[in-house]
Amino acid sequence: MRPPLDSPESPEKAASIAGPPCLDSSTDHTTAARDQVYRDFRDALGSFATGVTVLTALAADGGPIGVTISSFNSVSLQPPLILWSLACDSPRLAAFRNARYYAVNVLAADQEWVSDSFANREDNHFNNVRVRKGLADVPLIEGCVAWFECSNEARYPGGDHLIFLGRVQRFARGEVAEPLVFHAGRYRQLRPESG
Ligand SMILES: Cc1cc2nc3c(=O)[nH]c(=O)nc-3n(C[C@H](O)[C@H](O)[C@H](O)COP(=O)(O)O)c2cc1C
Repeated sequence: MRPPLDSPESPEKAASIAGPPCLDSSTDHTTAARDQVYRDFRDALGSFATGVTVLTALAADGGPIGVTISSFNSVSLQPPLILWSLACDSPRLAAFRNARYYAVNVLAADQEWVSDSFANREDNHFNNVRVRKGLADVPLIEGCVAWFECSNEARYPGGDHLIFLGRVQRFARGEVAEPLVFHAGRYRQLRPESG
């Protein structure tokens, strides 16, 4: 078992525990060793399988924006709250921070290409993507497993990401049942149920 990343333990004690060094800032790692620990940390986080969503909104100029997000999760039923986080260095951060409404589009198994499209840095995200207008004209991507249309309730600093808390105003489920799954840096499909 590795020590916690923000371990209050002494570096000596941490070093005595088997495994790579911890990310404790009091531990004196070489740059290469630290890079390796962060890669291990990323890989360990990637062992948590998630669905894939695209967050959509309208920018201040009225143009549609979208970004692929796997950090989406449920928070509360009453009131209905969800969360997700976006990298602070994302050029789309300001637009999402300022948007009054945004939508969570939960991608279906056959929408890997949609995920790839909204994960790139080009400006052509909506090319070939069929959308309809949702609450406050926020684009909703056709063919998804589910949609959550949210007001931008609150934002919290989270290290190098900004955490968004959304209040769900409307939701719907699509006709497609199979979601797209992301695990260990790769897209996956759910295995058919046995029996
Ligand atoms: C499957 C998948 C999930 C992702 N999840 C997140 C996420 O939760 N938060 C985030 O900030 N970026 C996430 N990204 C990266 C963004 O989609 C995007 O690639 C990144 O922000 C770079 O584009 P930008 O800097 O122009 O926003 C994910 C990418 C992929 C392919």
